[in-house]
Amino acid sequence: MRAKFLSEPTDFGDRCYSAALVLVTNACNLRCEHCFVYRDKTPNEPRDKMDDATMLHQLRILRDRHQIKSMLFMGGEPMVRRDLVLEAMNLFDESAIVTNGTYGIPSMPGHLVTVSLDGPEAVNDALRGAGVFQRVKQSIFERDPGDGTTVMLQMTLTRRNAPFAREFVEAVADWPVDGIAFTFYVPRRGDESEFVWQDLRERDAVIEEIIALKKAFPQIKTNLGALNLMRSDVAWRSTGEHCAMNGMLPLYVGEGGQFERTFCCYGNDVDCNLCGAYAVFNGAYHRAKRMEACPQPRSDDLTIRGTE
Ligand SMILES: C[S@@+](CC[C@H](N)C(=O)[O-])C[C@H]1O[C@@H](n2cnc3c(N)ncnc32)[C@H](O)[C@@H]1O
Ligand code: SF4
Ligand code: SF4
Repeated sequence: MRAKFLSEPTDFGDRCYSAALVLVTNACNLRCEHCFVYRDKTPNEPRDKMDDATMLHQLRILRDRHQIKSMLFMGGEPMVRRDLVLEAMNLFDESAIVTNGTYGIPSMPGHLVTVSLDGPEAVNDALRGAGVFQRVKQSIFERDPGDGTTVMLQMTLTRRNAPFAREFVEAVADWPVDGIAFTFYVPRRGDESEFVWQDLRERDAVIEEIIALKKAFPQIKTNLGALNLMRSDVAWRSTGEHCAMNGMLPLYVGEGGQFERTFCCYGNDVDCNLCGAYAVFNGAYHRAKRMEACPQPRSDDLTIRGTE
């Protein structure tokens, strides 16, 4: 039988990226209201899937070309392509997956699985869909907690669900996971939805609340240094042209089933001035720490292990 012809990846130049992110699928079984994936101007057509053999082939080439060490698998819902993810994660020194948790929690010993929940049951289900909280809870309790996988719960804080952060932590505090993480909403330009803080000074109160919660609940792994960099008076120093995520290669599946690089991990249409991506501020925090220790610039500021 003749071997199948596998197409070559898009040419993204020869820059090195220590970390990358891949949307293994644009398909998702949920339609969360705040989701950046399903915005206009971002490649998100579900029918443009790249088959497993081609994706593995292209990821291998991109890994070698750009010296990618860490890969974050997401989508859409990456567990729609569970077998592909479990095979592809072995291509990289460090792999992580972000999942909505409704297809079960994959066993990935030595790697990180981040499970999204956006509030206590009623709040989460209003955003993510009826019954989702209980399905995720069941997935978490059914997994083998001793399988060597690091499992974190992550709440994306928006202006709408932020008042329920404490209730969320209380609801999940005794779940068998390795920790709880928070990230904040990344709006599109001109975003007038109920999710966005139009003035970052309003977001400061939420940062204070998370810092207070962190003192009461050691399960919260969100780094204090990164939270401090999110405050309205200094946030601009870590975003836009200073964004640590500029060192990460975002791979979306675009027209014709080929990889496309978007403006940032959060797609093409984003407002950097109001960005709340935790990884941005955590990257800035670690960059500053390294500069203190060694004032020579380094390219490996990024970690895909969200909370460290
Ligand atoms: C896009 S989802 C993809 C993986 C998976 N479907 C899930 O929900 O975890 C990855 C994470 O991005 C978060 N997210 C979605 N839209 C966002 C936005 N506009 N700003 C910040 N985070 C967002 C989700 O809540 C989720 O935790
Ligand atoms: S489950 Fe994830 S990809 Fe799907 S709509 Fe929700 S945030 Fe977006
Ligand atoms: S919106 Fe994107 S590019 Fe802009 S600061 Fe946030 S992560 Fe960085």
